[in-house]
Amino acid sequence: MIEEEELTAATTKTFLQLSGRMEHVSEAATLRIAARAVELRAEGRKIISLSTGEPDFPTPDRIKRAGIRAIEENFTKYTPAEGLPELRAIVAEKFRRDNNIETSTDCIQISSGGKHALSNAVSVLVERGDEVIIPSPFWVSYPAMVAIAEGTTVLVNTKSSDEWVLSARALRKAITPRTKAIMLNTPHNPTSAMYSQRDLEALVDVIEETGIYAIVDELYEKLVYDGERHFSLGSIPEIADQVITVNGLSKAYAMTGWRLGYATGPRHVIEAMNRLQSQAVSHPSSISQRAAIEALTGPQDDVETMRLRFESRRDLVVRIMSVIPGISYSKPKAAFYVFFDVSRFFGRKFANGDRVGTADDICSALLEQHGLALVPGGAFGSPNHIRLSFAASEADIEAGVALLKEGLSTIH
Ligand SMILES: Cc1ncc(COP(=O)(O)O)c(C=O)c1O
Repeated sequence: MIEEEELTAATTKTFLQLSGRMEHVSEAATLRIAARAVELRAEGRKIISLSTGEPDFPTPDRIKRAGIRAIEENFTKYTPAEGLPELRAIVAEKFRRDNNIETSTDCIQISSGGKHALSNAVSVLVERGDEVIIPSPFWVSYPAMVAIAEGTTVLVNTKSSDEWVLSARALRKAITPRTKAIMLNTPHNPTSAMYSQRDLEALVDVIEETGIYAIVDELYEKLVYDGERHFSLGSIPEIADQVITVNGLSKAYAMTGWRLGYATGPRHVIEAMNRLQSQAVSHPSSISQRAAIEALTGPQDDVETMRLRFESRRDLVVRIMSVIPGISYSKPKAAFYVFFDVSRFFGRKFANGDRVGTADDICSALLEQHGLALVPGGAFGSPNHIRLSFAASEADIEAGVALLKEGLSTIH
């Protein structure tokens, strides 16, 4: 029999507070918008979504078949926490070949997505009181990862007129004795900008002198246009022992649901990330790891075919958006987003008389009244902007941009 007092204590326990760190962790805005679009569709509304951050292509057949083979061959058991040795060796070779990063199999982590590798890196490097510099706009999850590690995010604004690139001077100004790391993302979500070799080389002295870590997210490496080349900060020898490079299969191979990412960096950091992973999730799915071996070693024509499709959609979207009055944006150099400024509409009125205050207001009106889902820039630290994803069919891109034009034309 449980005494009444014990019962009360047990009941009280269920109402104890969550940990303080969760105060800074909210649901990703991108997911919230997708959920609202699903609700509206369920009500029978036709919704065009240009809000998603994933390739709309299916995973290439050769990779799907490798996953199916893994299941049929009962390759469905635990693997080493840090990933299959064969896959780690393939990833090390990939970093050497594609990125000019000097690394070896024992300095590789295979993780459950690039996001997981990023959060592993932040968790093993950052603790309470540490500052992490994040150029803004930023990918939505970076500040949340820092908050979960009880660190402090220091945002440094970048500007469209500087092609969204962080300068050495701005970086140096933001560094304090408490700075532990900077999180860089190139090619960049949401701006679709990209750091050139020269842009990255300009940061080397500051990173080297101050001894901070650089966590570099290169998820969009394979989606680069106009003959430009992606360059990796981790290939610069002077700071190679300070850089953690993260990548994954989601964007390059249309494998978002397979959850397969990877990282390389200084041995002690990767070892710690592997220990953390071993206690938290054990390892990424054995099936996805087998599929990843095929993805990275098989013929790469499918990657190029998808890249070309994205490049032609980029050209299409830029052309049809150029006739919309009141918005401005830079031409996407990579990834699959147009990040456009709508601040000229602020202070004007929607057709129903409501005042336009933020990009959020515009996105809500576009979704609720015109059936177009886009992501407001506030989620990325840039309330003057809206993110449009062109990872969608040409027909949806054309229909979506027409709705955007129609929606904005009702603001006076
Ligand atoms: C910049 C950036 N980094 C990381 C990720 C996470 O990718 P993954 O699916 O590999 O976790 C995304 C996904 O949207 C992203 O846009």
